[in-house]
Amino acid sequence: MAWRIPLADIDFDVQEEEAVLRVVRSRWLSMGEETQNFESEFASFIGAKHTLAVSNATAALHLACIAAGIQPGDEVIVPSLSFVATANAVRYVGGIPIFADIESEDWLSISPASIEKCISAKTRAIIVMHYAGYACDMPAIMDIAQKHNLVVIEDSAHTIGSELDGHKLGTWGAMGCFSFFSNKNMTTGEGGMLATNNDTLAERLKALRSHGMTSLSWDRHKGRAWTYDVVDLGYNYRIDELRAALGRTQLKKVGGFNQRREALTILYRELLSELTPTVHMPFTKARGTSCYHIMPVLLPRGTDRIKFMEGMKAEGIQTSIHYPPIHYFKNYVEEKQFLRVDLPITEEVGMREVTLPLYPAMSDEDVKTVVDAIRKTLDGL
Ligand SMILES: Cc1ncc(COP(=O)(O)O)c(C=O)c1O
Repeated sequence: MAWRIPLADIDFDVQEEEAVLRVVRSRWLSMGEETQNFESEFASFIGAKHTLAVSNATAALHLACIAAGIQPGDEVIVPSLSFVATANAVRYVGGIPIFADIESEDWLSISPASIEKCISAKTRAIIVMHYAGYACDMPAIMDIAQKHNLVVIEDSAHTIGSELDGHKLGTWGAMGCFSFFSNKNMTTGEGGMLATNNDTLAERLKALRSHGMTSLSWDRHKGRAWTYDVVDLGYNYRIDELRAALGRTQLKKVGGFNQRREALTILYRELLSELTPTVHMPFTKARGTSCYHIMPVLLPRGTDRIKFMEGMKAEGIQTSIHYPPIHYFKNYVEEKQFLRVDLPITEEVGMREVTLPLYPAMSDEDVKTVVDAIRKTLDGL
């Protein structure tokens, strides 16, 4: 389908082409110098002591759950209003995801009050997800975690550059998990990054990323090691040099991308409140600095969302849903142990949320076109 205005779009130019060519010509394709530079540049960008580039954020979340010491039967509190990877990572290690509600229709991320209600003797960790790039209430969540001795993992897939109280999101908890999937604020196609300020965790994560091995092919290529030991049950969650080079190039641009996303979001808010006042906009109050990953809105109560999305499609505009709540998925419903749920706000938002197009190359005129199409579509329902 050729959309007039797609939901998201990448912003690549000759710099990304040159980055890939540089790697192809270097004749070293798996983790090496590009990866090391990508990691250290990303570490400076977010202000973290250690960063590890990985194959994707799902892998990062899986490794974080292992390093957090989650054992079979341990409970981990997660939002249901998230991508399924947030909860799946807990299940990979035999843990039980316990779903907490979101704060309100104005702030769609995990609620500290709901987290407290979910805590039991089996709770081991909390995974927060900074929905759309807007900060969870981290001071309150860190207090709860400290009080109950819980590990905090940040699913930072939506946050590349967001900040709260002078700290980048993804550096508040014990570990932060970033995604560079194609629709993210900066992309490598597939790719991810794990961040931590803890030396012991960093050492373990590094081994887990590559089969628990004590040296890499790169070390042996450089003549720094002849053999290796295997000290942990690890995985192949490595990144390659092509994607690391793309990541380094995108990282230089992401500040500009985020500024453009902010300007577009402000314009959306002005036009939506003027032209479609029945459409509710979350995240309008101030809390930290967002990277404006996506543009979620809530349709008026009772609107047929699929008919609305079809109407937008007829105008050539792609929309999406973030997210169908995880606790509704068949695979989760079948596992009755995950269904200790009291999620009225998640369920309400899960029915009414629609995500509008947002990407740096969008023009102001495109935003106006989307808002006009929303008005026309809602009028016609
Ligand atoms: C909130 C959230 N968590 C986790 C992920 C998983 O990221 P990846 O595709 O890099 O594995 C995504 C990706 O879309 C996401 O949006």
